[in-house]
This record gives sequence, C-alpha cells and structure tokens, in this order.
Amino acid sequence: MDEKEFIYIVQASLETAKCKIGKTNNLERRLKEYNNITGKSNDNIYHYLFSCEVKNMLAVENDIKHNFSNLREEKNREIYFYNSTLFNDYVDYIKGHKMFKKEIFIKIENKEPEVKIIEKTTPSLKDRGLSPKDLLQKAKKVNNDEFYTRIEDIEKELENYDKRNWKNKVVFCNCDDAVDSEDDRNSSAFSLYFIKNFKKLDLKKLICTHYGEAHDLFNQGTKGYVFTKDGYKVITEYPNGFTGSFDHPLSLKILNEEADIVCTNPPFSRAIDFWNIIIRSGKKFLIISNITNAINTAYISYFKDKKVWAGYNRIDYYLNPKKQLVEASGHWYTNLPIKNRPKSKHLKIIPLQEIPEKHKQYDDKRTLIVDNCYIPNDYVKPFAISARPILNGILEEGYKIVQLTQYIPYINKERKFSRVLIQKE
Ligand SMILES: C[S@@+](CC[C@H](N)C(=O)[O-])C[C@H]1O[C@@H](n2cnc3c(N)ncnc32)[C@H](O)[C@@H]1O
Repeated sequence: MDEKEFIYIVQASLETAKCKIGKTNNLERRLKEYNNITGKSNDNIYHYLFSCEVKNMLAVENDIKHNFSNLREEKNREIYFYNSTLFNDYVDYIKGHKMFKKEIFIKIENKEPEVKIIEKTTPSLKDRGLSPKDLLQKAKKVNNDEFYTRIEDIEKELENYDKRNWKNKVVFCNCDDAVDSEDDRNSSAFSLYFIKNFKKLDLKKLICTHYGEAHDLFNQGTKGYVFTKDGYKVITEYPNGFTGSFDHPLSLKILNEEADIVCTNPPFSRAIDFWNIIIRSGKKFLIISNITNAINTAYISYFKDKKVWAGYNRIDYYLNPKKQLVEASGHWYTNLPIKNRPKSKHLKIIPLQEIPEKHKQYDDKRTLIVDNCYIPNDYVKPFAISARPILNGILEEGYKIVQLTQYIPYINKERKFSRVLIQKE
C-alpha cells in the first residue's frame, strides 16, 4: 500500500516567534524525533500547530518554500517566521493547494512543562544606574508612546500609492517590533504589513528595529529583524548598549546607508527629533504624526519648503498595549508622490467676497482669518488658516507659507487657536 504523505507546521513551546514547516510520512514519529533532539531542554516541547494529508508532499513543500521565501530563516531554511496572522496565511496557502487532501487533527499527549525555580538574578536599580525617578519617567513615557497602529489603517493608506514606489526598495521600520517583546506572536502592524506584502510590493529588503528600553528596562527586548527574498535573520551583532532607538548610531547607519523608505508611527514624545532626522536623511518616508503638525512651529518649515506633505488619510484610533481602542488625532505624512489628492475637492477657493461672513474675520492686527477650508483667490496679503487646508493640499494649489512660526491671532485681545500664515503665490 502506498505510504500516506503529510505536511505539518510544528512549533517549540519556548520559541513562539518561529515554526517549522515540513513533510513526513509519519506524523507521530516526526514529532517524537523533534522532541528527542538531544540537547533540547525538557520544557521546550514541540507540538503541531497544523497538519494535513496531501497528494505529493514534496511538491507542496517546494511550493511553500518558494511562496514564503522571505519568511524562511536565512541560515536554517526549515524554520519559518511565526506570528498568528502569518500562521493563517500558511494554513490558507496549504489548504488552497491543489494537492491538499484533508486536515488531520492529532491529539497530542499533554506533557506539562516542568516548572523550574531559578535563582533571582534581577539587577538592582543601582546596578542598572537608575534612580526611582528614572523609572517613573520611563513609565510615563510608555503611557504616552504606546499607541499602536491598526493594520487596517496601514492598508487603507498604502493602497493609494503607486506600487513602483516600493519595487526593489529597502523599507526601514525603525520603531517597530517584527516580534512583539511582550508577546512573541504579535508584530507591529507596519512590520506585519510589509512582511505579508513583501512579494506583492517586490521589496528588496525590510528592516525592522524596535526600542528595547521603554518596554524592557533590562534591555533584552532590543531585537532587529531583516527580511530579504532569501529569508530572514535576527540582527544579532549589536554595539554595546544598543537600545534600538531611532537616533542610535546603528539605526542612523541603517537609515543613511541602507534604507530607501522609512515607514512607521514614531513615538509621539520624540516626534520633533524623528522628523528632524528623517527629513535630514533625504530618504523617502511615510509616517504617522499629530494632525496639527502643519501649524506647529517645529514643523512649519518642512511644509513651507515642500520637504513633506500630507498623505491621504487621517487616523483617529489606535490600540493601546491591552489592544483596546484609544482615540488620538493623527495623520499620514510623506514625501512620496500623491496622485490627484482626493481631499483637494474639500478646498473652497473663491473670491473673498463670496466667503460666508461666519467663516472670515479679521484679528486685532487686521490679519484675515478664514475657516472651514474657505480660501480667497483674490486676496494678495498673507492670511491665516488652520491645519486642515494644508492637509487638503492648499500648498499644491498656488499658495505658500509665509511665516515660519505659528500664527496666534487675538480678537478683542482674546487669544484664538493657532494657525499658519499663507499667501497666494
Ligand atoms: C506610537 S508607538 C507606535 C508603534 C508602532 N510603530 C506602531 O505603529 O504600532 C511608538 C513606538 O516607538 C517606541 N519608541 C519609543 N522611543 C523610541 C525610540 N527612541 N526609538 C525607537 N522607538 C521608540 C515605543 O516603545 C512605541 O512602541
């Protein structure tokens, strides 16, 4: 009788950022082999995540290898990058294969891992050169910065850009865990998006680095991952004290010498430094930042000099570390070409006289302020607007920023919202 043929996905309990995909004629024997590998610790138990019977296991395995080439470890080609979303992709691919016969459920003997008591080796604050105040400050920072982008927001924005922007390019996600430091099975949605779409976008390389310090005071979470067509590898050679910070010399070297496009949602608390570094690098970028940046003195010059413009979408919701939805007003910013900016139709560029009275006023200095995306097309002096017309593309319609600092109007000596001064070119 012909031997049965199987494809399986197996994982070790202590290595949840990886899995192995292989073929066998005997699933039980193969699992025993994995668990008998000498030198493996007792509590690192292999178990099947998925297994199925197929017609020609060699052909299926080869197709998997080819289709997921960027997700195979560069050194050990049998190991695949794992997280829960990618697992679904692996399974969908196998189940959709023309050689797929049926899924096999295997009841695995539940061998509880031994609980080992290990000596407590946590270094003291003093050992780590920290004071209790330092810890408090780090904790505060975590709260402000740990807003994660949802993958649907990334998909919604990126689908607008010409695919040729990405072809054969090195994408650098410099504030992104390819593998979450708290839960190995998760990734930053930026990392995940590019990992999943690596082939579709025809990327040359994806580099993901993440900051170890905020999450992990012992600095063990500082890992970087590099994905290419030939597989992935963990960045293992760190200079001493590498935190994964975007402004660390190693991150800057990757930015300046390797990256073509930087794509991330950087920490809000470091946004000014981040913009500074990214814009100075002269590299392409597509990032998320506060929706009011265009009227903030720290950023106005970049908009004025056309070093940055708005992307397509605003973002109102993020996920906190508990995966709960939190509200904050962000927007995409980029220096990639924008095709026929759809939001420019919200601009109402008309003669001053036709702008409704309630949307135009003069401040105490007799400077005109217009709101609600009304823009006078026959007014030659500078006038003040909010961030919205800038996000809707007014600087692409023959208007320029004329003051590098935010404009704060006073009406009857009462301070009003900040704005930016623009003028017809
Ligand atoms: C707003 S969150 C966004 C995370 C991720 N990029 C995303 O879009 O879901 C900013 C991230 O930057 C990390 N971070 C904080 N300081 C950093 C630094 N100096 N360099 C790199 N990343 C940093 C935070 O830990 C946090 O995970």
